[in-house]
Amino acid sequence: MTTSSAPGKIILFGEHAVVYGRPALAVPVTQVQATATVSATSRTGIWIEAPDIGLASELSRLVPDHPLAAVINRVFSVLPSPPSPSRSTPAGLPKGEGCTITITSTIPVASGLGSGAAVSVAIIRALSAFLGQPLPDERVSDLAYEVEKLHHGTPSGIDNTVVTYAKPVYFVKTFPSPSRRGIGGEVETFRVGAPFTIVIGDTGLSASTKESVSDVRTLWEADQPRWEKVFNEVGDIVQKARRAIETGNIPALGPLMDENHKLLQEMTVSCAELDQLVETARRSGALGVKLSGGGRGGNMIALVRPDKAEPVAVALMSAGAKRTLITTVKQTSEVA
Ligand code: PMV
Repeated sequence: MTTSSAPGKIILFGEHAVVYGRPALAVPVTQVQATATVSATSRTGIWIEAPDIGLASELSRLVPDHPLAAVINRVFSVLPSPPSPSRSTPAGLPKGEGCTITITSTIPVASGLGSGAAVSVAIIRALSAFLGQPLPDERVSDLAYEVEKLHHGTPSGIDNTVVTYAKPVYFVKTFPSPSRRGIGGEVETFRVGAPFTIVIGDTGLSASTKESVSDVRTLWEADQPRWEKVFNEVGDIVQKARRAIETGNIPALGPLMDENHKLLQEMTVSCAELDQLVETARRSGALGVKLSGGGRGGNMIALVRPDKAEPVAVALMSAGAKRTLITTVKQTSEVA
């Protein structure tokens, strides 16, 4: 039996502009996780059990572009295994044997916390290890990106990267493969000079990243000079934010978050529910607030002094948030 878990993530700065080659900063959120367990079974075939979504099915009964089928089929297609010994036994499994893949996740779906990428990464790692051919991080990230593309159209690759490497990532989309970045294919991480506290507030509205990305593209196509300028402004904010985080100048981050949110509003990817939570957090003493991820729902993030975390979270719940998480971004990356 093999088990693998992958964290959620938040984008601190730079979403949407990152699709147009500007940098973005993201960190893992380890309090929420997706977990995949693969175990041998005497039944032939690949059995998928995802109790959270009420799914229990054999792989071949799912439509090929089902998110779970897509990732599992990709793992089988890339492993250098001998050809399948029988039609009912996929390559990599002993003849006549099957396996059960159980998937659970505490990451809210369609809310900007990277749930899709985390489920993909957990499955890729657990299944490739079960088949005796564990894949290196770069391949894991590549495969998860392939699946993201199926569902999000033109993703930048930031989600699969931060979720695979589980550390703070300074991300710049590269071509042609978004998973090979930095020198020698290394992901570029950044130092966290001093810990800082973030309250994550969930609007409870599930939002389609594909749609918001496509709407921003429509705006960009209609007036490229204007939007290139906006994306440059976002890029500048990201560089300043990285410097502030690395030097531990946390107070400087707040205004940068506010400016970034304003530009996201200009891109039309905020919404009344997000803006209401953003305003509430500001009024309750947050140092800076913005939406995080694709927008139009999903989550917002508020930078707070540690003693303000609880009051801001409570205020967000009274203003309609469906759930809140308090996280501390630390040097090790991880959010505790
Ligand atoms: O909604 P999320 O967390 O998957 O974030 C999407 C981030 C975007 O920049 C809007 C799109 C992308 O692919 O980078």
